[in-house]
Amino acid sequence: MKKGLLLAVALVANTAVAAYAMKFAAYNGDVYFDHRLHRLIFNCSECHDGPPQHFDLDHESGHRLCIGCHKRVSAGPARHCSDCHIVS
Ligand code: HEC
Ligand code: HEC
Ligand code: HEC
Repeated sequence: MKKGLLLAVALVANTAVAAYAMKFAAYNGDVYFDHRLHRLIFNCSECHDGPPQHFDLDHESGHRLCIGCHKRVSAGPARHCSDCHIVS
């Protein structure tokens, strides 16, 4: 019962984010990134080298950036794949 409720809440949260998040395609489930939320918390230079602009992400650099910070600051998803990779 409790587990079902948590899952429902998680699904609603994901849907809300998906409405305005950046999306990175991945075969094991696309990754949604709420740039606006992250921009509110951090300086641009936390993630952008030099002037903030587009940069390429891949499996390795994506995990280094995203999971690396989440572990460092003990916030945001770092352990469960499905917290980031959303299989629709
Ligand atoms: C904090 C978010 C996050 C978590 C947690 C996460 N990933 Fe990722 N993953 C990403 C991002 C970002 C990318 C890069 C996507 C891109 O380049 O389009 C990625 C890419 C990948 C890719 C490459 C997919 C492709 O199409 O090339 C694989 C495979 C992958 N992750 C597996 C995993 C597995 C397995 C786990 C759990 C052990 C996991 N990820 C957890 C964010 C995450
Ligand atoms: C927590 C990490 C993070 C922070 C902080 C951050 N960004 Fe980004 N930003 C990203 C990622 C990841 C992308 C997507 C990579 C891509 O496709 O370009 C991106 C993409 C962008 C892009 C290119 C895509 C677009 O929307 O036009 C711009 C411009 C940008 N960021 C500006 C900023 C500015 C300005 C700030 C500070 C106010 C900032 N970012 C803060 C991670 C971050
Ligand atoms: C510089 C640190 C930092 C980086 C880099 C970063 N995050 Fe986060 N992330 C956070 C923090 C802090 C939170 C918690 C925000 C909160 O709970 O208010 C968070 C929360 C999240 C969440 C949960 C909230 C939501 O939006 O649903 C997701 C998903 C997420 N991050 C995905 C990513 C992905 C994907 C990337 C890489 C493209 C990334 N993050 C890069 C610090 C970071």
